[in-house]
Amino acid sequence: MAILVVGGAGYIGSHTARALRHAGYDVILYDNLSTGSRRLAQGFELIEADIADAATLRPALARADALMHFAAHAYVGESVENPRKYFRNNVTAALTLLNSALEAGIRRIVFSSSCAVYGVPRQIPITEETNREPVNPYGASKLFFENALEAYSRAYGLRSVRLRYFNAAGADESGEIGELHNPETHLIPLALAATASGRELQIYGSDYDTQDGTCVRDYIHVNDLADAHMRALQYLESADQNAVQSLALNLGTGRGHSVLEIVEAAETATGRPVRRSVRPRRAGDPPILIADPAKAQSVLGWTAKRNLPEIISSAWAWMQSASRRRAA
Ligand SMILES: NC(=O)c1ccc[n+]([C@@H]2O[C@H](COP(=O)([O-])OP(=O)(O)OC[C@H]3O[C@@H](n4cnc5c(N)ncnc54)[C@H](O)[C@@H]3O)[C@@H](O)[C@H]2O)c1
Repeated sequence: MAILVVGGAGYIGSHTARALRHAGYDVILYDNLSTGSRRLAQGFELIEADIADAATLRPALARADALMHFAAHAYVGESVENPRKYFRNNVTAALTLLNSALEAGIRRIVFSSSCAVYGVPRQIPITEETNREPVNPYGASKLFFENALEAYSRAYGLRSVRLRYFNAAGADESGEIGELHNPETHLIPLALAATASGRELQIYGSDYDTQDGTCVRDYIHVNDLADAHMRALQYLESADQNAVQSLALNLGTGRGHSVLEIVEAAETATGRPVRRSVRPRRAGDPPILIADPAKAQSVLGWTAKRNLPEIISSAWAWMQSASRRRAA
């Protein structure tokens, strides 16, 4: 069985590609390398192209039995400054991918959605039934594609699992692949980098109504996400196809950690201090985002296995091996 992993040269896609290969699937990566990297795709067949390119998609999709769609622009702040870029890629180009998949006869899709579809939820933990009211163009673009998948499911029998990740973090335990974003905007790599470089970490807001005044997020290990993708695919392949529904699932641990807790965990893992400064709150940053992952547990039998110290130590091991490689 062959899986086309679109956006497979990126952070989460590359970890999932490895998990799929390990489970015996044939894996083809499709990526324009706009934010992904050839390094993360090493050892895999990579079709280097854009999802807006229907002519290149056609033969690639003809070889696949199912699609995993990770490709997107994913910086919230940038989406506010340049929404056009986000709607062009995450909506217009993504619809070319979806229509090409439909025409190629693909009926199973696993999609990278985000907790950004919920906006600023009124209730924590967040269940899948929480209203979807995104507060930035990135979240709106993810919601649009979710809606398209739901409509295609009803009209054309295309089955999808829309996985709403909370904060992806950590790295493969092999130390061979990990997070490679440029610019890096995620807290854990930034805090770890601050311990190594002595550069100051910016903390946005210390007056939230949380245990220590800083924002609280649900950090989920990237290999736990990869495992959930495998299970979502297996769910879509179930023998009893009549029982398979298109659905959305939260992927988080159900536990929240504040920014200051992450900073302290980074200091513990590295044995070095993080210099920090507190800035004003960023617009549209919800105080607390924590998943209720019960539905993923009941439908997929999935739970996150790795805790915060394991997330941080794997991310640190990857950063150290990456800096050794750069020095060599
Ligand atoms: N990282 C997180 O915490 C997080 C949280 C929620 C949702 N997500 C979603 O998960 C997915 C993967 O995120 P990531 O952190 O691995 O990001 P990433 O930038 O590392 O990966 C995205 C990949 O898609 C590719 N891509 C983008 N546009 C493309 C296009 N038009 N054609 C072909 N390839 C294209 C990029 O080159 C990159 O390799 C994204 O859809 C993101 O919105 C991520």
